[in-house]
Parts: sequence; C-alpha cells; structure tokens
Amino acid sequence: MYSAAEQRDLFDLSKKMLYTPQADLFGENAGQRAEDLRRVIRYHEWRYYVQNDPVLSDFEYDQLYKQLEAIEEAFPEFITPDSPTLRVGKDLTESFVQVAHLTPMLSLDNSYDAEDLNDFDEQVKKLCKLPKDVDVEYCVEPKFDGGTIVLVYENDLFVRAATRGNGQMGDEISANIRTLRTVPLQAAFSKRGIFRVELRGEALIKKDIFEKINKKRQEAGEPLFANPRNAATGGLRMKDPRETASRGLEAFLYQLGYAVDNQDNNLLEKFETHDESIHLLRELGFKVPVHRPEPGNHLEETKTCRNIAEVITFCQAWQDFRDEYPYEIDGMVIKVNSLELQSRCGYTSHHPRWAIAFKFKARQATTRLRDVEFQVGKTGAITPVAKLEPVPLAGVTVQNVSLHNEEFIRSKDLRIGDQVLVERAGDVIPYIVKSLPELRDGTEREVVYPKHCPVCHSELVKPEEEAIWRCENAECEAQVVQRMIFHTSKHAMDIEGLGESTIERFYKLGWLHSIADLYRLDYEKVAQLEGFGEKSAANMKAGIEKAKSNPIHRLLHSLSVHHLGQKASKLLAAEIDHVLDLAGWDLEKYQTIKDVGPVLARNVFHFFHNEHNVELLQTMESLGVNLRQTDEDKKTDVNTDGPLYGKSILFTGTLSQMTREEAEKRAAAAGASLASGVSKHLSILVVGEKAGSKLKKAQALGTVEVWSEGEFLVQISESSAE
Ligand code: IVH
Repeated sequence: MYSAAEQRDLFDLSKKMLYTPQADLFGENAGQRAEDLRRVIRYHEWRYYVQNDPVLSDFEYDQLYKQLEAIEEAFPEFITPDSPTLRVGKDLTESFVQVAHLTPMLSLDNSYDAEDLNDFDEQVKKLCKLPKDVDVEYCVEPKFDGGTIVLVYENDLFVRAATRGNGQMGDEISANIRTLRTVPLQAAFSKRGIFRVELRGEALIKKDIFEKINKKRQEAGEPLFANPRNAATGGLRMKDPRETASRGLEAFLYQLGYAVDNQDNNLLEKFETHDESIHLLRELGFKVPVHRPEPGNHLEETKTCRNIAEVITFCQAWQDFRDEYPYEIDGMVIKVNSLELQSRCGYTSHHPRWAIAFKFKARQATTRLRDVEFQVGKTGAITPVAKLEPVPLAGVTVQNVSLHNEEFIRSKDLRIGDQVLVERAGDVIPYIVKSLPELRDGTEREVVYPKHCPVCHSELVKPEEEAIWRCENAECEAQVVQRMIFHTSKHAMDIEGLGESTIERFYKLGWLHSIADLYRLDYEKVAQLEGFGEKSAANMKAGIEKAKSNPIHRLLHSLSVHHLGQKASKLLAAEIDHVLDLAGWDLEKYQTIKDVGPVLARNVFHFFHNEHNVELLQTMESLGVNLRQTDEDKKTDVNTDGPLYGKSILFTGTLSQMTREEAEKRAAAAGASLASGVSKHLSILVVGEKAGSKLKKAQALGTVEVWSEGEFLVQISESSAE
C-alpha cells in the first residue's frame, strides 16, 4: 500500500504540519494544506486501523485532524467528498432505503468435519472435469461472525454501502459505514482500469471492546447485547452515525464481487485467482485477512492450501486457536482459488459451488432454567443468577449464569421452568440469549424479585442512579464474608494460603467477624482442623504476616468502599501519611484530587466518618497491620494521562537508542505498567535487535501489538514533550 519511502515522507510531513502555528493554517496555501492534511490523516488512519500499528500518538493525530477541520470550516470550498472529516455526518437516517446489489449476495453451504470437506473437494473436481488425483488449490479464511456489508466504489470514491438484506436488496447504510476508519473513502481502483466495484465483507467488533460496551450498558441499566455479532449488526443500523462510530466497528473485506470499466466491461476475468483480488484490496488500503509474514508457530488469517488435506489441517488448527483470536468467528470459509475453476463450478440458487463454510462446534444450546438465586456482593449489590440444568457448551459444563439485574430478566421475559438459549462465545462469559416461550406448558413461574435481602432479610433499596438493588446492611453476613474474601484477594492484600472456602469455613466456625480477625487467628487451632496441619497453618501465617506490611494503597483498596478501585486508592495513598488522616477530611477535600468524582468522594467520606470503620482500622493497626504511607505509596507511579496508560508493556532484544532501564522508566512515565512476560494480558511488546522467543510467542498470540524501538519513541513523545 505505502512504500517505505512514502511512509517516511508522510511521517516527516505529519511532524512538520504538527508544528504549524495556527495562524499559518489559513494563508494562501490553505487549499494545498488541506490536501496534504487529508493525505497524512489517511495514512495514519491506515496505520492505526488497518495495520494496527500506529506511528503517531492519538494526541498528535487529533491535532492534525483538528487542523483539517479548521481549514474546512473556514473554506468550505476545499472540502472533498473523500475527506476524513466527513466520516461522521450529522444527519439522522429516518428509515433505511433499500438498494439492489450489483450481483446477488448468496449464502454458503456448510460442512462440519473432514469427511464433508473431502466430499466437497470431490464434487469440485467433478464439476471442473478434473481427474481425481489432481490437487485443487483452496484459499481458507475465517468465517467472520458480524454483520455482512456490501460496498460500492465508483471513480475511486466510496459511494454506497448496504447490508446483505435478502441477498438481492439490502438496506442502505452508507452514512454509518463512512464512520468506520477501516473503510477507505477513496481507493485507486482506476490504476487497474476499474470504474465501478462491489466489495463484500463483514463488520466486526473486537471481543474485548464488546465486553466493555456491555459493561457500560450494564452500569447504565441498558439491555445487554447477547454477543459481538448482535452489537455489530445493531451498530450498522443505527439512525445516528455517531452511535455507529462509538461502537468501534471494523470492516474485513473478503470478496471482490463485481468490477467493470467505464464501458461496463467485466474486469473480474482479469484476475486469475481469489488471492490476487484480495491482494489488490490490501494494496488499496482495505483490511483483509492476511497471510502473516512470519511462518512458524502461529496461525495466519488466511492460507492458500495446495490441496484439501492442507485445508483440513488448517481448519482444525483454527478450531483450537479460535478463542485466542480477537474477533468472533464461527468457522472457516474455503474457496477455490482459481477464478477460472470457480466459474466452471458455478452456483446453485442458494450458494456458490466453489465455496463452503466449515462450521466450528456449536456454542449455543438450549436448557431449562431451574431456578433463580439472588447473590449478595461485597458492597451489597444483589445479582440474580440463573440455575440451569447443566449443559455442555463448547468444552465446559454451564449451570450458573449471571442475569445481571432486574431489567435483564424483565426484558427477556424469563420464567422459571422455561427452556432458554444459552451462548458461550469463546472466553466471553456465558449468556442467556432468550427464552423460548413457544415451548411453555403453563407450569412456568414468574421470577419474583426479592424485596428483602436473602441473607439478612433487611429491606433492599435501589438508588435512583443505579440499575441494581442493594442490601444496605453493612453487617449483613453475606457482605461481611464477601468483603473478607475480597480483602485477601490478589488485587487487594494478596494473602497467600487463605482462599474463599477457608474464609467461609472459618466464618462458620465463629473465628471471623470482621477483617481484623484475619490478623488474630489462632494458628494452633488452624493446624488441628481437618485438611490443614502444621505446614498449611505455617504457610497461612507467613502469608498473613507478610500482608501486614503492605503499602497502604492496597489496604485502602481492600476495604470494599464502593467505587474505590486500585487507581483511586493509589491516588489517595499518595496524599496521606496515615490511613486515618482520611477521617479528618471533609467532602470538598476529596474532590480536589484529580480523578476522584463526587460519588466516590461521598462513599469514602462516609466510610471514614463511620466510627465502626475507624475502630476496625485502629484494631488492625494494633494487630500489626501497616497504616502508614510507604515509599511505594509516595510514587505517583501511574500517569493516568500518559499515552500508554492502561497498557502493559515489555521490552525484548537489544535496544539501540537507550538502555533497557531507561526504556522501562520512560514507559512507566507514559503510564504503562511493566509486564514480566508474554501472555494474553500483554498489550505491547517493543522489540530491539535479535529479538527471539518472546517475539515469536507474541506473534503466535496475535493479540499483542509489536512495536519497534522507533515506534515506541514516537508513541511516548507526547509525554516527554511535556
Ligand atoms: S464468502 C457468495 N467469506 O458468511 C458468498 N463469506 O453465507 C460469498 N462470511 O453472511 C461469501 N466470513 O457475510 C465469505 N470469509 C468469508 C466470510 C463470509 C463471513 C459471511 C457472509 C455471509 C455468510 C455467507
């Protein structure tokens, strides 16, 4: 798409333009400047969205974008139809207009195992009149599970997008598709003499973004999406394109369906293979499944297989790799590579005979909703949990599924005794998609939401701004136990040798009443308990003793104050000498701390103005728990505004422009956390020279961004410029 030299030029030009004084924007060269800005913005959009490998910080990109907006506002005559600023229009779509596809969009036939694929291969050879022992070459790529999109370009410009619809006609969704940065608004098809094309692809939402969207919706009490596909197809059909833009959709293109010159001559015949047509799309800046450059121990998105045996191996490997892949897919698509052979195979009215889908094992199942239980969390939140008749689903047995809140149960009209459809998509948590009311026999019962806490029986309340009911009795047994479990957990006091079931057991024995009791256990009695013994009691003691000297940000976080997370705990810890200093703070004082909002301020204020809590902390101190600020607390180590905030980073290989220590310091200053190894939790791997196994492992995972040292420097330049 861009040669190395072009990339260098565009990068230099971007940097130059970034430092243009505002006043110079509107001079006599404004028209040229707008064109240059469009060129560099397009380039950075491609680096960021298509290559997943940006070379500018978000901040710098925004500066360039704002410059273009400013010029276009001052001189509307310089706006071009492919300007990146036109991605988000302001007009609402009243209702979708139906448009006809240039060629019908058929379905795919399905296969489920090696035998089906061998049959398909045999059939292809028969249709092509090829001898049985000749190999047919196939392209294999993921079967993306999102919303189908059909794009039309004319004269190198994006002109229209539609949904699949009934295969003949779809809904026009151009304004929404324009907001997808993976869809170029201009593409130089004319270089190949092409005047009009129709492309097919799929709009998708990454699994992790989907989880975040649902989390936000849950907090806002809005109905949740069953899976990334529903969030994607819904996103395509928003009335307001700004809403589509906020869903983070990406478009993968997988087929060039139609291509003509300006005399309407068919140009598809000019391509020999499917591969070649996809390669052109990649060249023109579209996101397509890629043959990853590095052969070896990871899976490429697409593979050109020499015969059906290779196809089968590749499909089976993907079946295992599926959960690691950042997008939801429900199988693989196998396509005859030669376009000549494709036309010999032809079509049925339903599907092409030259392609087939290989479907992965089902991830949906129906089962019976036996009951709904209500669980009490550490801050009193009541969560309804579905108790299902156990059902195997993609490798695990599912029987408990969260129902989130009252609104969820109501919107799905769930009744006890119903048959329900459960889905488990990869590492996404199991989810009830819907009930099947047509299967009811009249014995089903409504779910009655309790008015009282199922454990302590105090009346439940529902704060107006929240979607969930709460038990407000801080002494409620369930809350006390949950708070103890949280107190010892990894992110809080991180006490080894004291797990959930042990806490529940000690509580039942009457040994624990509050978290302070964790620090005065009688280890001789512990050693005598069945299943324990001297050794585990000693381990437990060691874990608890160690936790006593934790930095106070851990202690603050461990107290289960609603909304007081790890980050805010660190911010608070940096401001005080002793935990009980907070008891002397007034409400306003909390709000002077950046990132502490009014709700959190109120919660912490109330906590420290409750004498039981103050006493609890005093008792803990007398038992040896540290309440004084430590050196670690003083470090305001998280730069929450840094360009790498929220990302974990690791360096590997030999760096040429700085030492490893220096690099780590700069990464931390930019807000990143330093990782100790490559795992799926790693966000960024920075590779120096002679990078070895870490790089291979990161590539195999496919979820880790790999940066060069130079890219790292560009990314953090925003923070070092301060
Ligand atoms: S090729 C003539 N390739 O699967 C049909 N389709 O039934 C050509 N799909 O909704 C389709 N990933 O959107 C093709 N790599 C892929 C695909 C793919 C997903 C969807 C497609 C359509 C359905 C086909």
